[in-house]
Amino acid sequence: MKQDMIVILDLGSHENTTLARAIRDLGVYSEIYPHDITVEELKALPNVKGVIINGGPNNVIDGEEIDVLPAIYEAGYPVMAAGHAKAQCAVTLPAFGNDMEAIKEAVKSFVFETCKAETNWNMKNFIDDQVELVRRQVGDKKVLLALSGGVDSSVLAALLLKAIGDKLVCVHVNHGLMRKGESEDVVEVFRNQLNANLVYVDATERFLTKLEGVEDPEQKRKIIGGEFIRVFEEEARKLDGVDFLGQGTIYPDIVESGTKTAKMVKSHHNVGGLPEDLQFELVEPLRQLFKDEVRACGVELGLPYDMVYRQPFPGPGLGVRCLGAITRDRLEAVRESDAILREEFKRAGLDKKVWQYFTLVPDFKSVGVRNNARSYDWPVIIRAVNTVDAMTATIEEIEWPLLHKIAGRILAEVPNVNRVCYDLSPKPSATIEWE
Ligand code: XMP
Repeated sequence: MKQDMIVILDLGSHENTTLARAIRDLGVYSEIYPHDITVEELKALPNVKGVIINGGPNNVIDGEEIDVLPAIYEAGYPVMAAGHAKAQCAVTLPAFGNDMEAIKEAVKSFVFETCKAETNWNMKNFIDDQVELVRRQVGDKKVLLALSGGVDSSVLAALLLKAIGDKLVCVHVNHGLMRKGESEDVVEVFRNQLNANLVYVDATERFLTKLEGVEDPEQKRKIIGGEFIRVFEEEARKLDGVDFLGQGTIYPDIVESGTKTAKMVKSHHNVGGLPEDLQFELVEPLRQLFKDEVRACGVELGLPYDMVYRQPFPGPGLGVRCLGAITRDRLEAVRESDAILREEFKRAGLDKKVWQYFTLVPDFKSVGVRNNARSYDWPVIIRAVNTVDAMTATIEEIEWPLLHKIAGRILAEVPNVNRVCYDLSPKPSATIEWE
C-alpha cells in the first residue's frame, strides 16, 4: 500500500467531511468510519497511522452518550479526540469549526509528529492502492457494473478495468432517453478504446412503450427506474459466475443516505432494488471520494475530459424534459435542440462555466408561419443555470448574440419546432428541471 491513512471516527459531527478534506489537503489520505467500528475492522484497514475521534452535537443519541468501543483506545494507534468526544487519549482539542485553514493548523502536529504520517496522498497512489484492494477483494471472480456513462460509473469502470481487466462485465442500458451521441460515446470509449467487456442493450422500444400515455412526472420516474432494474436484472441473469456488483457510490451519496450518526437527508439508490435472489457483494472503491476527487481520478485513469467533466444529467434522462406524455417527435426535438445548445455552449466556452444547461419541449403547440403558410408546432425552451449544491440556482445571463444564434439554429434545424423561449426563473421559485 502506498498511502498512509488517518482514520476519522464519526460521533455525529457535521465537520467530519471538512476535517477529512483538511487532512487530505495536508497531503495525507483520510477516511471516515462509523463510531462503532471494531478493532478488527480498524486493523484490517491499510496503513492506518492514527485515529481522530470527532465528536459533535449528535454524540448524544436518545439520551445516551455514544463513544467509540473502549478497545479502540487500546489498539495501539495514536488517538486524538476532538469536540465532545470523551477524553481518554493523549491529544484532545475543542470542537473543530468549519474553517479549513484553522482545522489544518489544529491537526498538523498530530498528523505529522505524533502519527508520523507521510505526505503520500495523490491520485496515482490512490489508484494503485484501490487496484490492489479490489484485486484482493474479488480474486479471480467477475464483477458486474451498470455503466450509465455518468461521471461516477465511468470512473469506476475505468478503475475496475485497470484492476481486473476482462473480469469486469459492464452493462450499458440505453433507455432511449439519453442525449444525442451519449450511448455511442460509452461504446466508443469503453469497448473500442479501452477494450472493456461491454454488453450494450438498446431498450428504447421497451421503455417508450411502457411510458406511452403516462403524463405524471413521478409516475414517469418510477417507470423508468423500475424498468431499468428489470433490464439490468435480465442481463445479470444471462451471465455466469458473477459474484460482485460494482457501485459508483461516492462519499456525498453516503452522507445523503444518512450515516449511523448523521440524520438521513434523502435516500439514494444506484442499482438498489435488485431481487433478493440476485444479491451481490458490493465493490465500491470510490466510496471515500468527493466529486472533484472522482473527476481527478478519471483524468488520471485517462478518460476523456468531456466524460469526466460532463454536466449533471438526471437518471430519467430526456424523459423529464419531454413534458407530459412522451411522444417520439417531441423526444427527438428535445434531443436535437439539446445537441445544438451543447455544441454552441462548447464553442463559446460556456460549457466550462455554466453548471447545467439543456432544452425541453412542453406538451402544447403554438401557431406560427413557415414558407408563407400557417404552422402549428412545438416550442423549445432553453434553460441554463448556475448553482453550488442544486438546492438553489440562478440564471446564466447568456449574451443576446449567442441566444439568437442558438434560437436560429434550433428553428432552422429541428423539425416540428416554431418557437424558442429562454427560461428566466431562478430556483426558487422554479426547480432546475421542469418535471
Ligand atoms: P431540481 O429540478 O429538483 O433538480 O431543481 C436538481 C438537480 O437534480 C437533478 N434531477 C435529478 N437527478 N434523477 C436524478 O438523478 C432525477 O429524477 C432528477 N430530477 C432532477 C437535476 O437535473 C438537477 O441537477
